[in-house]
Amino acid sequence: MSKLFSPLQLGRYTLKHRVVHAPVTRLRSDPDDTPSAMMVEYYRQRASDGGLLISESSHTMRSGRGYLGGPGIYEDQHIAGWKKIADAVHEKGGRIFMQIVHDGRQSHVDLTGGTPPVAPSVVPFETQVLTAKGWVPQSPHRAVDIDEIRLLIDAFRTAAERALEAGVDGVELHSANGYLADTFLQDGTNKRTDEYGGSIENRARFTLEAARGMISVFGADRVGVRLSPSGKWGAISDSSPQDTFRYVTQQLNSMGLAYLHLIEPRVMGIETLDENEAPVASEYLRQFFEGPIISAGGYTRDGAEAALQKGNADLIAFGRYFTSNPDLPERLRLNLPLADYDRSAFWGGGEGGYIDFPPHDAARAK
Ligand SMILES: Cc1cc2nc3c(=O)[nH]c(=O)nc-3n(C[C@H](O)[C@H](O)[C@H](O)COP(=O)(O)O)c2cc1C
Repeated sequence: MSKLFSPLQLGRYTLKHRVVHAPVTRLRSDPDDTPSAMMVEYYRQRASDGGLLISESSHTMRSGRGYLGGPGIYEDQHIAGWKKIADAVHEKGGRIFMQIVHDGRQSHVDLTGGTPPVAPSVVPFETQVLTAKGWVPQSPHRAVDIDEIRLLIDAFRTAAERALEAGVDGVELHSANGYLADTFLQDGTNKRTDEYGGSIENRARFTLEAARGMISVFGADRVGVRLSPSGKWGAISDSSPQDTFRYVTQQLNSMGLAYLHLIEPRVMGIETLDENEAPVASEYLRQFFEGPIISAGGYTRDGAEAALQKGNADLIAFGRYFTSNPDLPERLRLNLPLADYDRSAFWGGGEGGYIDFPPHDAARAK
């Protein structure tokens, strides 16, 4: 009996299958960060009856942008664009959660409106960010003071208020992949000595308070949190990841979230590091989280089914394969071959490699 195609209660919603669209940033927003018409079509194509889509990350504020073309939820004008996406998904009987992020130190002054990118502490690192001038090294970041931290946290709540107005079914806090919340959580990037640094309890405070702010708007049963335990994207590290992620998971467990979303460390951002490595993050953290767990990272149809059968996860999120297979749940259900994804179209561009992948009937007729 396939578990991937069995129903599941996720917070307030009953899903008909467990194939989730992972958040995948595609950088095709309008110039003012409003979701574009192309994006509406992208999500419409990927919605399925009783299926869950998690949106690409949407920014809490202009100075929290790390990629040119990523959508925002920091101005009222963004609401209308998101509403069209939510409506398109609902018309097909699907559900959509909006992922909300502040990109923190993975940014550039050309994206932030001129201000240096922010982080809990100054810890030099190297990455590339996409600006109007192409991929360039990130700008030097600065450490935020405690009053700014409160404002940064509150921006997750106000973003959630706009998301609610846009009519999405829930929100996901992006506390993974080395963006702002993750840099607070892990001690490789957090060297603070105030109440937001030092002990695990202090380092987790940013993520937990941001989650509480989002819960105050949507209710816990419509809020998820994404973590990447032991992930390396964004030059992130922790001296004791098991302790750090156990603590934050236990705290999130007590909040009664709709779900916990875990990225397996066998992928680094968009690269699979080790196909054969078992999904360790969900296996370990399952012990500390009673609600639904979504696991992501390098899954195939068989690997997804195995993880569900083992009980380590309740849903499986697919990133790259969902980009090239708009009807991925149906293809997995019928065990049809999957179309290869087009890396050159991942970040920015037009409709090619974005909304021109045919559904399986059309693909087979070719
Ligand atoms: C082009 C691209 C953009 C991504 N953007 C996001 C994002 O906005 N938020 C996020 O949490 N993860 C993002 N990810 C990571 C995916 O959600 C997922 O964890 C990763 O692709 C591994 O899953 P996969 O092996 O099924 O592709 C992105 C991945 C890709 C390929």
